[in-house]
Amino acid sequence: MQLIHSSAELKGVLSKRKRVAFVPTMGNLHAGHLQLVEIAKQHADCVVVSIFVNPLQFGPNEDLDKYPRTLAADCEKLEAIGANVVFAPSVSEMYPGFNGKSLNQNVTINLPAIASELCGASRSVHFSGVATIVSKLFNIVQPNVAVFGKKDFQQLFIIRKLVNQLNFPIEIIAGDTVREQDGLALSSRNGKFNPAEKLQAAQLHLTLREVVEAIKLKQKDFITIEADAAQRLSEKGWQVDYISIRSSATLQPASKNDGNLVILGAATLNETRLIDNIEFCAKPLN
Ligand code: PAJ
Repeated sequence: MQLIHSSAELKGVLSKRKRVAFVPTMGNLHAGHLQLVEIAKQHADCVVVSIFVNPLQFGPNEDLDKYPRTLAADCEKLEAIGANVVFAPSVSEMYPGFNGKSLNQNVTINLPAIASELCGASRSVHFSGVATIVSKLFNIVQPNVAVFGKKDFQQLFIIRKLVNQLNFPIEIIAGDTVREQDGLALSSRNGKFNPAEKLQAAQLHLTLREVVEAIKLKQKDFITIEADAAQRLSEKGWQVDYISIRSSATLQPASKNDGNLVILGAATLNETRLIDNIEFCAKPLN
């Protein structure tokens, strides 16, 4: 496995490869990330994993400085499962001249309204920052396929739009969410929980499961089901950002006639904000 820090060197290395599969990450890798690498291996003779904590996708009050940076341990894990190349650029390599604060001098990507809903409602720069770094990485790596996790369902949705509408010749493949036994989705943020909080952390996932059950019962409208779920979670000590029942095809608020649904949730337990979602196929009423 090769560890590469410069785009120019990466281009040289990849020019000799036939098919490239790409897994973009911010590092601090866990089994969820590694599953994406396993998927990538099935689609190409060369798997590139990027590790870059992207300042553009963090808001001013978010945890950019505290984001765990564990490059050596990450490389060991990637080598063990057979990744071929790790691309770990510096901030100045990716954003020459960026002073870490103002985006004024940077070209960024303007996204449709869905990027301002759900997570985008409280994280205004987030998805534009994601789309910008992913576009840059796509142009540097020029993969045939790229693999993203369904854990970040809204991110995956936006990446698909980006690739489609900006004509990136890249196939996007989605990996299922990897979870702890109690249902908690793996996330680098889980490392912030103390043992007592860790026991509580699966409550977000369990609440989304309860929403699925409530939809199946067909006794309440979606707005009421969402509000009830948010209320139960906040009674358990969470600050709820949203619980939302959406069409998985459009990410618009679901109607009773939508068959393929996704229930998305975001909530903070003490200082740590988690997101999760469940896809669910509901039979249309008529
Ligand atoms: P990061 O949070 O490191 O996630 C990298 C990839 O791993 C994403 O596609 C994410 O959806 C996936 N992932 C995270 N947790 C997962 C889990 N429990 N199961 C399955 N997949 C999981 O997402 C980002 O980085 C960044 O926004 C990035 C796309 C790299 C742009 O900076």
